[in-house]
Amino acid sequence: MMDSVSLKPLNTFAIDAKAKHVVTAHTEAELLILWRQATARKLPVLVLGGGSNVLFLENYAGTALLNRIKGIAVSEDADAWYVHAGAGELWDDLVNACLDLSIPGLENLALIPGYVGSAPIQNIGAYGVELQQFCEYVDVIQLETSVKRRLSAAECQFGYRESIFKHDLCEHYAIVAVGLRLTKSWRPVLHYGALTYLDTRRVTPRQIYDTVCAARRSKLPDPTLTGNAGSFFKNPVISAFETEHLLRCYPDVPHYIQPDGKVKLAAGWLIECCGLKGYQLDGAAVHDKQMLVLINTGKTSGSNIAALARYVRRQVADRFAIWLEPEVRFISAQGEVDAVEVIS
Ligand code: FAD
Ligand code: EPU
Repeated sequence: MMDSVSLKPLNTFAIDAKAKHVVTAHTEAELLILWRQATARKLPVLVLGGGSNVLFLENYAGTALLNRIKGIAVSEDADAWYVHAGAGELWDDLVNACLDLSIPGLENLALIPGYVGSAPIQNIGAYGVELQQFCEYVDVIQLETSVKRRLSAAECQFGYRESIFKHDLCEHYAIVAVGLRLTKSWRPVLHYGALTYLDTRRVTPRQIYDTVCAARRSKLPDPTLTGNAGSFFKNPVISAFETEHLLRCYPDVPHYIQPDGKVKLAAGWLIECCGLKGYQLDGAAVHDKQMLVLINTGKTSGSNIAALARYVRRQVADRFAIWLEPEVRFISAQGEVDAVEVIS
């Protein structure tokens, strides 16, 4: 443990904020001990995975506790494989481990940065698939009481970039493992983007994985080269009535009807329409290939990224009367703060 550590290598935005301490847990017992030691110093604790969905607004006045509890166990019955994965496995390593074992299902979720333990928090999704389609349970430890609980998928209350872990359970808990069920009656999901060109009858899970990787690499900036946290905002979901009105003014607005009749819009399109492609403000910029992604052009601060987000959000609202909400979690000196409030 060191006193005052740079968080730059621990967040994909590459914001050079500092934490008082950074500690790493490899087991549940270690996690509890480290949490108790940190709270005994009366400092806040932030459980962190790969830092690929956080924005540090300033130095963090507490301990960043890295969850690196590993382990993958697989069992099966006639219908499915059951995968139990430690929170500290890298998500993409898990996807690859499954494919190497000829267990298909996760290939559309290729190359999503971060760790398994963070995946249920925003119910990661890409290329027509979401984690909730496979998630059977999530194991959490309540850090104050050391009580371990297994939440069923229903208890997780998954939604689009949503789960209970963003709300009721957000204080003083750590996800330690995730359980997935991957059916043996695999069917490829090919309705999204570049996947629509693949042949449903012949395609292999590995081909889908490779196609998703190529599509992602062609438009998303590589965080090892350019600081970013993927989509900065969520795609807005509006009513059918609001969509009708919008379509009258903007007939070509991309829109996707949801099972509940609501309509999801492409925030990247709305931002692009405001002429913000590549727009820069104090070292923060709108990416020029995927406008839903904000980037750190080099040495910018978290508050500069937030200032750009405020500007983008205002421009989109002025033009479309739609207020974007950040997907990224904002972290201040004492812990998470309400991202919408910060950029309002
Ligand atoms: P972190 O950023 O470390 O943490 C996120 C939040 O979860 C924080 O509030 C943290 O305190 C909390 N947390 C982390 N681990 C635990 C734990 N074990 N217990 C309790 N709380 C915890 N997301 C998608 O859904 N789809 C995509 O296609 C996608 N593409 C991306 C592309 C790029 C280039 C980048 C940089 C990000 C992308 N993301 C995407 C966002 C990100 O990868 C996911 O949100 C991912 O699940 C975050 O994992 P992480 O380990 O980095 O979480
Ligand atoms: N679009 C534009 N301009 C842009 C970006 C997008 O016009 O700059 C329009 C295009 O019409 C495009 C459509 O938006 O066809 C969809 O774009 P894309 O496939 O890139 O997806 P997205 O809606 O921008 C979402 C997720 C991504 C996920 C992709 C692929 C959210 C907030 N983002 O982005 O997740 O990888 O779909 O499924 O839902 C993340 O969460 O960090 C993330 C990267």
